[in-house]
Amino acid sequence: MALHSSKCCRLILRTHAARALPSRILKPPIRDKACKPQRWYSSATKEENRTEPLALVDSITSPYTDAASTSQPAQEFSVATGPGWISKDVAPFSESLTDTFGRRHTYLRISLTEKCNLRCQYCMPEEGVTLSPRAQLLSTEEVLTLARLFVREGVRKIRLTGGEPLIRPDILHIIAEMRKLEGLKTIAVTTNGMNLARLLPGLQEAGVDLLNVSLDSLVPAKFEFIVRRKGFHKVMEGIEKAIEMGYNPVKVNCVVMRGLNEDELLDFVALTERKPLDMRFIEYMPFDGNKWNFKKMVSYAEMLDRIKQQWPSLEAVPADEADTAKAFRVPGFQGQLGFITSMSDNFCGSCNRLRITADGNLKVCLFGNSEVSLRDSLRSGASDQELLQIIGAALGRKKKQHAGMFSISQMKNRPMILIGG
Ligand SMILES: C[S@@+](CC[C@H](N)C(=O)[O-])C[C@H]1O[C@@H](n2cnc3c(N)ncnc32)[C@H](O)[C@@H]1O
Ligand code: SF4
Repeated sequence: MALHSSKCCRLILRTHAARALPSRILKPPIRDKACKPQRWYSSATKEENRTEPLALVDSITSPYTDAASTSQPAQEFSVATGPGWISKDVAPFSESLTDTFGRRHTYLRISLTEKCNLRCQYCMPEEGVTLSPRAQLLSTEEVLTLARLFVREGVRKIRLTGGEPLIRPDILHIIAEMRKLEGLKTIAVTTNGMNLARLLPGLQEAGVDLLNVSLDSLVPAKFEFIVRRKGFHKVMEGIEKAIEMGYNPVKVNCVVMRGLNEDELLDFVALTERKPLDMRFIEYMPFDGNKWNFKKMVSYAEMLDRIKQQWPSLEAVPADEADTAKAFRVPGFQGQLGFITSMSDNFCGSCNRLRITADGNLKVCLFGNSEVSLRDSLRSGASDQELLQIIGAALGRKKKQHAGMFSISQMKNRPMILIGG
């Protein structure tokens, strides 16, 4: 299904916009005098480097791998590289987790499931995705074995994602076991928020440090249109409860799409006045089956411009070296905002991320389709040393930067739901 025009959304919204939120849910933000009347709902009517595999690893096993596109030369964007971003406090750093450009990979994202209780238009095709048989997915022990190995080598942050990670029955056990890993500083979870309120006490007790909750609209009917399911109020309740339980900030991920939710930008920013939220506006990215189109993408520059028109005093916030978001805040506001500019201004130069898919493939670049199966190596009894050689070789093939948004949109890759954002 193509993304609807704003006209279509308007139609839906007129019939639903009157629905009120429970009062315990986030209170309406106070806006500048110059702003429209306050409301909680949106007012929307709204080098190539070395490609020869090392002897041990020639298993690029993914069906998503496309030989033609892996040999695509990097183009379109220049990368701001430099030695400055390399953390000096972690030397000597694992060779296996260092690529040929000196990037140290201290951040691992593990997808815990391919399943989801929502069907977001930008993340998965309408007809759904073919799920891997259960036996092909990483078991609890395999997830933990890989986590231990990566942390021993220098990973300092693990993000659990999916699919929807909070539908995995062993989620609390996995987090509690990861919490015991010496050297792991941060455990983060990215969730759609549907089960968050219910699971929060357990998540906090198990040791979750950081929460990212996805929310693409403040208009219930539009939310349901985008995610193709009901559940707006559950997500809002999850965000509110996370704040109450002391998560500060609670990060809120919002994929901004033209004709759909770009008219809610200011409403989202206004929420940061009274709440310790870190609103993260994400440029819409192309993945298999999400019908990405350049015109639907709202660039960072355009978003920033709109927000600055409303809040000219918006100021940049210094960000961590490897933080992918360009951060800002409105002076006096409790929270802040940021932009994930993967499309218009990539941050490949400081990329420190690795991904493991739910079926156990290591992906060294979100936008690269070469993958290597750690699951198969684990199951065939590979030693830690052999696993590290496989990981090191995959990282040896990591390119300097992704190929640019137009090449990516033509490339075979997994749908986002099968990668884990
Ligand atoms: C794949 S989801 C998995 C975790 C969880 N189910 C959730 O929605 O937060 C992780 C993040 O990827 C983002 N995402 C998915 N598809 C995207 C796309 N095409 N462009 C930009 N971000 C996308 C989602 O908004 C979400 O914040
Ligand atoms: S973005 Fe998250 S919630 Fe939405 S379909 Fe993808 S995995 Fe599910």
